[in-house]
Formats: sequence, structure tokens, C-alpha cells
Amino acid sequence: MTLAANKRVLSGMRPTGQLHLGHYHGVLKNWLQLQHEYECFFFVADWHALTTGYEDTSGIGASAFDIVVDWLSVGINPSAATIFVQSRVPEHAELHLLLSMITPISWLERVPTYKDQQEKLRERDLSTYGFLGYPLLQSADILIYKAAHVPVGEDQVAHIELSREVARRFNFLYGREKGFEEKALAAVKKLGKRNASLYEELRKRYQEEGAAEALERGQALLDGQQNISLGDRERLLGYLEGGGKVILPEPRALLTPESKMPGLDGDKMSKSYNNTIGLREAPDVVRQKMRTMPTDPARVRRTDPGDPARCPVWKFHQIYSPPDVQQWAQEGCRTAGIGCLDCKAPVIEAVLKEQAPIRERSEEFLAEPDSVRAIIDEGCEAARKAARETLDEVRQAMNLDYR
Ligand code: TRP
Ligand code: SF4
Repeated sequence: MTLAANKRVLSGMRPTGQLHLGHYHGVLKNWLQLQHEYECFFFVADWHALTTGYEDTSGIGASAFDIVVDWLSVGINPSAATIFVQSRVPEHAELHLLLSMITPISWLERVPTYKDQQEKLRERDLSTYGFLGYPLLQSADILIYKAAHVPVGEDQVAHIELSREVARRFNFLYGREKGFEEKALAAVKKLGKRNASLYEELRKRYQEEGAAEALERGQALLDGQQNISLGDRERLLGYLEGGGKVILPEPRALLTPESKMPGLDGDKMSKSYNNTIGLREAPDVVRQKMRTMPTDPARVRRTDPGDPARCPVWKFHQIYSPPDVQQWAQEGCRTAGIGCLDCKAPVIEAVLKEQAPIRERSEEFLAEPDSVRAIIDEGCEAARKAARETLDEVRQAMNLDYR
């Protein structure tokens, strides 16, 4: 999918302990790419962590700090992306409350994660108001930044769907901006002479003849404009189609390709499987973990030939080794020409090499925790500013801007 460069991307992560290589090869590499192409907001979803982990909140501050160190260490760049902590932008809570007034309970009960998680986490009491409402809090997280694209895994797609429904309902109930027509016309002028007349022509063709191609070209024209504000862009998109400016645009899920990173046992790397390698785990620990990781169970003795297809180490080779090393491992394994420790050596080195710059940067940040705090402070400030703008419009639309 091609995305419009000037649109916002937003994503969040719960602070639940240090990140591992699975996060890196899945979510974080994706963020690293997005941050250079779009206006990105990445946040620590600490309130979300409370929806399931409300009993013991003692570690939350340290986890929030750690996760930001992880992000920074892999190269999330605070001058390219806004990094912030949810609970420091209380506007999310206000929007959540307002949206809760118009959201039918049945919409929340229908979200698949609601029942799934309650069943999975049986040992916790998740019959709480906060847990039921957490996808709506997520909707508020997204809508308050008018994010166009939300990079998430498959399991979160239903939440983005909910956000779209809630936005639609909000827009339906509280309608459209006052003085829309005048504002739209003023925005057309800002396009410059040539683009303005092209826009007018396309708009006319779409509205008078229903030419879908004219609509698409009009949208593409707007996507290519770097210098118009988010508000004007939405006015122009609405005006093009013959509607008004929607207050809360509907976001779209941007599906993150599933990480192919295997865990130490060959299953998907995941904290709940206890098979992870930490993003900035100490080299000795990494070596130890990898030396003891299981191999093809049929290779009992050094002289037994093996089958890489049955071995987690081979999955690491597929990610980390160049073709000649892969060839060497394949042959050596099948002919018992190499031992498993020989076979593991190059992947251990490759993992350590991947981690080295990350670990190094994390050490720099950990040595100067105040610099991390300053980055978070700044991000929170910037996020608040953006959030307040939307909230002002929302309050106005709901007639809550009286004194
Ligand atoms: N619910 C997400 C998770 O558990 C985290 C999250 C919270 C999020 N708010 C978000 C992700 C907004 C994307 C956008 O992984
Ligand atoms: Fe696995 Fe390599 Fe041992 Fe074969 S030689 S079983 S691929 S570790």
C-alpha cells in the first residue's frame, strides 16, 4: 500500500518489560521505516497496561522508561517521531469519556479480544469497566491525533474497526464544521493558482458527472500537497466529495507483517513462551541461551546426521546467515560433517553483531537518564498540543465550549 506522505501514523505499545528480538524484527523495524516517511506518533500505552494489570502497578514507571530506551536504542529518532507517554496526555482520557457517551456497550462486548482475553487470563478478574472499555480508550488514542494509519498486528485490527465505527457515529451525531463552505473555499485558494483550478475542475467533474477517476485524481492532488494544514486537507477532501469536513477522520489499520523471528525453541518468539532473547541482553547470557537451545532431536550423537527442517537453529540461519553459510549448515548437518555447536557459532555471532550497536546506544542512554526524560517531556508536550487541537474541535461540536 502506498501512503500519503503528509498523513499521520500513530501506534502504541504496552510497557510490559524489556523488548526482545521478536519486537525488533516485527514492530520496531516497521516503525523505523515509517518514521522517515510520515509524521509519526509512538506512545507508551501505560493506561492500557492497567486494564489487565491493575493489581500491581509498582513496575509501571520503570517499564515505561525502559521501553522508551529500547525504542531510542534501535533508532527511533525523536527528531523524526513524537515519542510520548499516554498518561502524560490526559486529553486521551477526556476524549475517551466523551466517546463513551455515544458508544453502545454491545459494540465493546462484540470485540473479539474481550472474551478471548478474559478466557486466557482466567487468573485475573477482568470483569471491570476499564477492561471492557479498553478498545474505546484505544479509539480515543487514535482519533485524538486524527491518525490516518495505525500500524498494528492482526490481533488489533478489530480495535481499529471499532475506532472507525465510533468516528463515524461521532461525525453523524455532531456533524460538520460551522462555516464549512467559506473555510473550504479559502483552503482552495491556498493551493496556488494552477492546483486550485485543477481541483475545481476535478471537483466539478466528480460532482456533476460522478467521474470516479476525477475523485481519485483530486485525492491524489491533495495527497501531493506538502504545505496545507491537516484541517484544510480534510476540508478539501470533504469539499471534493460534496460533504463537509469530518471532525474525526476514520483511521485505517496498517497491518504489520508478522515477525518471522523464531524463539529459542523454534516457536514464534514471545514472552509468554519463555523463549526470548532480549533486545539488549548481555552477550554472555545470549551465548549461553543459544548454546543450550534445542536442535534436531534426532541428532543425538555428533555422528548422527540431522535435518535442518526440524531444527530451530536453522530458522536462525534463515534470518541471519548469507547463502554460503546456509549452504554450509545444510550440508554439514545432513552429512554430520559439523557438530551443532559449530553450526550455532555463526548465528550466535550474527545475533551479537546485530545487538551490539543497540546495546551500546542503550548504555549511553542509561548513563544519562535525564536525556531520556527530556525526550519524553518534549514528546509529551508536542503530543498534547496536537491532542488539544482536536479536543477543542470536539468540545465545540458537542457544544461543550461554553463558559
Ligand atoms: N492495544 C495495543 C496493544 O495492546 C496498544 C495500543 C494502545 C495501541 N493504544 C493504541 C496500538 C493505539 C495502536 C494504536 O498492543
Ligand atoms: Fe540444527 Fe545445525 Fe545441529 Fe543440524 S547441525 S541439527 S541445523 S544445529
